[in-house]
Amino acid sequence: MPSLSPKSATLQQSPIRKLAPLARAAESRGVEVVYLNIGQPDMPTPPEMIAELHGLPLNRLAYAPSEGILEAREAWSAFFASWGIAFGPDEILVTAGASEAVTFALSVVAGGGGEVLVFEPCYTNYRSFAAQADVSLVPVTLRVEDGYHFGGVRRLEAAITPRTRAILLCNPSNPTGTVYSETELDAVARVAVEHDLFVICDEVYREFVFDGGPIRSFTRYSDLAQRIVVVDSVSKRFNACGVRIGCMASKNREVLDVALRFCQARLSVATAEQLMVVPMLVNGRPYSQGLCAEYQRRRDAVYNGLRLIDGVSPHRSEGSFYTMTRLPIGSCEDFAAWLLRDFSLDGETICLAPGEGFYVTPGLGVDELRIAFMYDAETLRRSMRILDAAVMAYPGRLVECGCQEKRS
Ligand SMILES: Cc1ncc(COP(=O)(O)O)c(C=O)c1O
Repeated sequence: MPSLSPKSATLQQSPIRKLAPLARAAESRGVEVVYLNIGQPDMPTPPEMIAELHGLPLNRLAYAPSEGILEAREAWSAFFASWGIAFGPDEILVTAGASEAVTFALSVVAGGGGEVLVFEPCYTNYRSFAAQADVSLVPVTLRVEDGYHFGGVRRLEAAITPRTRAILLCNPSNPTGTVYSETELDAVARVAVEHDLFVICDEVYREFVFDGGPIRSFTRYSDLAQRIVVVDSVSKRFNACGVRIGCMASKNREVLDVALRFCQARLSVATAEQLMVVPMLVNGRPYSQGLCAEYQRRRDAVYNGLRLIDGVSPHRSEGSFYTMTRLPIGSCEDFAAWLLRDFSLDGETICLAPGEGFYVTPGLGVDELRIAFMYDAETLRRSMRILDAAVMAYPGRLVECGCQEKRS
């Protein structure tokens, strides 16, 4: 048999999905599983979007233009404008979700052997996108003790090499919920200018900022406009992950021209789906603001629950709809498997995403896990009680201390 390509070995199995068989086995034993491992919104897709799909005057589903249908690009332009971001329709390419937009952006600015700085823990698929684009991700490691913030330029500069082409910034962050401060964004901007880099801004969670915090798109650095590539998506903000529509936007003509060649090679993005999201893009700001308030309630439920677990000092997620936490249990992957195989509380257990897969650096994140806020606050409170009981019961628990005393 011929062997597979060396690249095949660089693609990891999704750490988010790899516990799925154990979860299915738990369900077949009659255990209810709460899925905290995956960022699949639980709320319905807006009926306006579905109605738009049904009402589309389509009698022939032809290829759409590679750059996206003009009406769709105009809608994206209106969407950006509603958040104070100026991109004209000719500065936008419609993509198959943010996934395709990140892959194209990496390919255009660093493909074929360049390096891109990324804060870790990071969105796990960045690793696969980079592998597809033949890009090396160079991690700047953030620590839970610092609330997954990096502070200033020092850490960034230390990671730069002659091959560095860009910084990939996910703000607010999946998986940590970090919303980067003004000082941190200034640091990214300064380093980008001083080292002549692009900044790929993944802002798919842009408006999910908790506690009334300011929404700071990186596009505010208008003097860096030629360096900035924005990646966006309808998936999370409109509860429409399955629609597979996103975009890439930039003011850099050269970037857009080369990205368009990638778009042409894949011919087009689904015609009906580009159009069905138009009304939400144009008028969807109140809708996604409502979602943010709901995710904040859920964040509170998770954070308050984690605080009660002995040996856990949770970081308070500032945005997106995730948090990461460290547990006093050694390997979170073993723990997550044990939860599905051997543990339940009142017939219920939880499925978690082990932290290791969110790190580029091998061996980091072993004792961390990511929690997604994809259930109502009451279910999340119950889930944190299950987690608490599981940590106490786990045979691999590292800390033996008086949690009962602490709580009484
Ligand atoms: C940070 C981040 N970027 C990109 C994506 C991909 O989004 P899409 O569904 O638009 O491909 C996700 C999905 O979870 C994400 O969390």
